Amino acid sequence: MNRKKKILIVDDIAENRKILATILSKEDDYEISLASDGKSVINNIEKEVPDIILLDIMMPSMDGFEVIKALKSIEGVKDIPIIFITAITDVDSKILAFKEGGVDYITKPFNKQELLARVNTHLTIKVLQDDLKEKNHLLQDREAHLEKLVSEKTIKLENMTISIVNALENANFYNDNDTGNHIRRVSEYSALIAEEYGCDVNFIKKIKLYASLHDVGKVGISDSLLKKPGKYTPEEFIEMQNHVKIGYQILNNSGIDEMARNITYYHHEKWDGSGYVQKLSGDSIPLEARIVALADVYDALVSKRVYKEAFSDDKAFEIITSSSGSHFDPKIVEIYVKLRKKFLEISTVLE
Ligand SMILES: [Fe+2]
Repeated sequence: MNRKKKILIVDDIAENRKILATILSKEDDYEISLASDGKSVINNIEKEVPDIILLDIMMPSMDGFEVIKALKSIEGVKDIPIIFITAITDVDSKILAFKEGGVDYITKPFNKQELLARVNTHLTIKVLQDDLKEKNHLLQDREAHLEKLVSEKTIKLENMTISIVNALENANFYNDNDTGNHIRRVSEYSALIAEEYGCDVNFIKKIKLYASLHDVGKVGISDSLLKKPGKYTPEEFIEMQNHVKIGYQILNNSGIDEMARNITYYHHEKWDGSGYVQKLSGDSIPLEARIVALADVYDALVSKRVYKEAFSDDKAFEIITSSSGSHFDPKIVEIYVKLRKKFLEISTVLE
């Protein structure tokens, strides 16, 4: 702080004001102002806020303790350091002076060096405190600004992700058009399972978004194979399995969430390790892939495909429950059993 520090001297005796002002005005960077009573201080304090106040205790009409009480209730003023000055030397007055919020106590007659040293010390502390407050404010402003930026970027990123997923979904739809709303239904079933499983809101939101990408790799599988009526030969089945690898390659290094890659790569793994392509088993298959695996199969069973008619809900129920612990995670089968009616509703509404 390069500006002069403002010192306000409050004393009802003119002689005392004069002595104090004379001592303090010898310092180049002090600017002195004087007041003879508490009321005028309180009325004018906000017009010109001093850096420190030297306050006499014994004054007519309003004593120093009453003045400090009033000053401490004014915002922007209450932090000004106040040094009491008085001839009183009894201990009780000193204690009360500190209790009322005074930072120091100087007794008359004044010792010039002591007075200057005390005033200077409290002004230095005040400057440091003001500096700290200002830095804190700046930090708070910067934090608020950063929070706002992060939140804006997050929304942007989420919107971009949704656009990418939609674009990939569309590519998939044109390539594999006999599946109709299959990918949307799989998203709905997956979100329902995740919710019932007890997954957090973020997981549910992500699985609903990314489940639709499970077969994105089919863009790399030939039309003749995708639309082949009837069963695949063993060679064709191996070629078909490549869709999970292709899907993974499409999404890898794209910056998309790990969950999207896991769903695409692992949705054909089976609980007993007999699935493809990594032959993972049990809990080592990411939860999102175990969920989508059941949702995908359920939907394939109850839908008409080029190679099969739609199975009834009862038939699908029988196939899925009998595959608990072999194809599917038993806990997820239990959830499917609970949600069976809701699955049926979705399969009808999103036909
Ligand atoms: Fe698939």
